[in-house]
Amino acid sequence: MTPRPTPIAPSEITPPEVYFSRRTLLAAALASAASGCVRAAGGEPAGAPLAYERNARYSVSEKPNTYDEITTYNNFYEFGTDKESPSEYARMMRTRPWSVTVAGEAEVRGRFDLEDLLKGQPLEERIYRFRCVEAWSLVVPWVGFPLGKLLGRFKPTSRAKYVELTTLYAPQQMPGQRAAVLNWPYVEGLRIDEAMHPLTLVVVGLYGRTLPNQDGAPLRLIVPWKYGFKSIKSIVQIRFTEREPNTAWNVAAPHEYGFYANVNPAVDHPRWSQATERRLGSPFLAARRPTLPFNGYAAEVASLYQGMDLRRYF
Ligand code: MTE
Repeated sequence: MTPRPTPIAPSEITPPEVYFSRRTLLAAALASAASGCVRAAGGEPAGAPLAYERNARYSVSEKPNTYDEITTYNNFYEFGTDKESPSEYARMMRTRPWSVTVAGEAEVRGRFDLEDLLKGQPLEERIYRFRCVEAWSLVVPWVGFPLGKLLGRFKPTSRAKYVELTTLYAPQQMPGQRAAVLNWPYVEGLRIDEAMHPLTLVVVGLYGRTLPNQDGAPLRLIVPWKYGFKSIKSIVQIRFTEREPNTAWNVAAPHEYGFYANVNPAVDHPRWSQATERRLGSPFLAARRPTLPFNGYAAEVASLYQGMDLRRYF
């Protein structure tokens, strides 16, 4: 994803090294290594084990990608614009203590510790398809719970038509934020009925253990029928709004990244086709697979968009 249409080849795009100082990165990486942070070795899931139940009703039967595939090929521009930087640098982010601020059109507002938000909340494992707008895809065993359960606790008012979510802003910990690639912090949003839909998940884990930082620790969103950029990582604020929120990618390139971003093989990105996708981990010469309307979740969610022109609201 690039904020502006560009005719140059990907190999000519400024490398992230130019954006932020290598020296700072190295110092911080060494500091966090010295403080005992560990990385997954040999592809084994890292993180603390979670208690959860598999939700078969909301799980696909496709084979999940490996832990390695899910955690070493990431989009998390706060740590650099290439796929490898997040797994290398995301350990610079401190995920404890963590709190989430709730604001806007809700009766219950304020700042809540992550532990309090998660206390007593049963967790489920759901195996979802995940489709990036860049036309690669994954199948992931997430651990989390429906966003609607969390939002309901704040008692949104009748004026809450949308929900806006914001990622941590901490350039000392997130070196990518020192470059004006996006208008930081990263912001995403959903219509309130999309946010309350049972498929929309708050995710805290992966393969049965707490999320690695590069996948959006300590909590992120997963909206499986939308392009991956809607699934915002490392959330620190939830705001209920009357108006459609200004979201990071939509502001950066409104003709390329719409607010809705429902997976739709019939509407191409201005610079590439969305008709097919490459499943990560499949053999190099494997055929691309067809992309499914709403990423295969049409039976559950198509009714949310009845009467809307999905070419206009892309
Ligand atoms: N959230 C934040 N804060 N910053 C990002 O750069 N990238 C998005 C989304 N959430 C992004 C983000 C995009 S483009 C995708 S495809 C997914 O995260 C990637 O999630 P993954 O790395 O866990 O596969």
